Amino acid sequence: MKNLIQKYNIPGPRYTSYPTVPFWDKKGVGMEDWKNSVLKSFNESNDSEGISLYIHLPFCESLCTFCACHKRITKRHSVEEPYLDTVLKEWDLYCDLLSKRPKIREVHLGGGTPTFFSSENLKKLIDGIFKRADKFKDFEFSYEGHPNHTSEEQLQTLYDLGSRRNSFGIQDYDPVVQKAIHRIQSFDQVKKVHDLSKKIGYESISHDLIFGLPFQTEESIRNTIKNTIALKPDRIAYYSYAHVPWIKGVGQRGFAENDLPKDQEKRYLYELGKQLFFEAGYKEIGMDHFALPSDSLSKAMESKKIHRNFMGYTAGKTQLMIGLGMSSISDSWYAFAQNEKSVEAYTEKVNRGILPIFRGHLLTNTDLIIRKHILNLMCNLETKWTIGVNDQIKNEILGRLQEIIDDDLIEVSIDKITVKEEGRMFIRNICMAFDLRLIENKPETRIFSMTI
Ligand SMILES: C[S@@+](CC[C@H](N)C(=O)[O-])C[C@H]1O[C@@H](n2cnc3c(N)ncnc32)[C@H](O)[C@@H]1O
Ligand code: SF4
Repeated sequence: MKNLIQKYNIPGPRYTSYPTVPFWDKKGVGMEDWKNSVLKSFNESNDSEGISLYIHLPFCESLCTFCACHKRITKRHSVEEPYLDTVLKEWDLYCDLLSKRPKIREVHLGGGTPTFFSSENLKKLIDGIFKRADKFKDFEFSYEGHPNHTSEEQLQTLYDLGSRRNSFGIQDYDPVVQKAIHRIQSFDQVKKVHDLSKKIGYESISHDLIFGLPFQTEESIRNTIKNTIALKPDRIAYYSYAHVPWIKGVGQRGFAENDLPKDQEKRYLYELGKQLFFEAGYKEIGMDHFALPSDSLSKAMESKKIHRNFMGYTAGKTQLMIGLGMSSISDSWYAFAQNEKSVEAYTEKVNRGILPIFRGHLLTNTDLIIRKHILNLMCNLETKWTIGVNDQIKNEILGRLQEIIDDDLIEVSIDKITVKEEGRMFIRNICMAFDLRLIENKPETRIFSMTI
């Protein structure tokens, strides 16, 4: 296994989309093409499954030096109202485009830190969204909260607005690690917001942990996981630390490369976590998630209904996901579009009455075929094809998978590829054999984090 980890630990995408963002068409997506693809997707799916909304709330009070998210650090809360006004104006632009009132199946508030915003402003945002939309049956509303900046009032307000699921960024409980990542956060504080969420009635609480952070050791991870299990969150995201300091604006600093656990040392931290989660009754979901059998994500996995998009793994799939807010990515299934990455550029475009996208990609027929296979593998660890259709593409993929087949990590039959348990940790490498865009445009510089 040690040799396999060394062999397969190479830079690679996390496949929250296909094609992955760096390989979107350099020409981008034209505004008319984007609008048409949204309308087509909307008309095909609004009545049958509803649509999803991802709303990016970018502000945080303090910078965590491991963070790779699109955020804006400020302590000035006067930024809240103008930002939300812009988000609602952007929502108006989409609603004006759609042929009828959208039915919303899922809303997710991501960040940054959604709980940076006051209860009053969060209510204003959600009420504003539903002025022009209805709820689809089984409506789900989730949000990300920072344990140090989430009050009982915010938890209650969001619950009253329909949220039954939240997630908290924990990362690590070890004081040395917390100091290095500039994120001091006590177990008592986490327990407080966790217990309050339970008391209020949240049905699914998720904790985000990261392995591969600076100064993590076997002992520190054991302790972090012991604390996590003591609170029994319904879901746990156990992310591999993505070290991408070369990306502009990310702000990863404050520790040296040598402070990071490497290759098999890092992988061991994952395997250790996995074993401890299993012992505590969790099930492994896809690539980096765990859930209690009672949670909707476990149930969706059992019935092979799990989906993956820019929000990660979700139990409910919609064909159309509209992303609002700076840097958000929208997905119409037939095309992707990303919003401007600075608050200023985003606001300026919305104020001019234009959708604030700055890049995108219109999927070709081949992209759509590959997209489906990668999604199947990432979600269900298997993918099927019809014999006699697209045989050339299939044979080329199998050729590229030969080494992985020889290493006994996947099973190939006449119409199916199944990832073996030993192959699960190499899932990103397996998907890379399908990734025609990556193969055609071999990157010359580092653009992805390591696969393991
Ligand atoms: C937007 S943040 C969470 C919400 C809130 N801002 C907080 O920090 O509690 C989403 C999650 O992304 C994960 N994340 C951020 N940067 C990462 C990185 N470089 N590698 C792996 N996971 C990362 C963290 O686990 C984090 O909790
Ligand atoms: S981890 Fe959360 S709080 Fe920290 S900088 Fe990133 S988004 Fe902000």
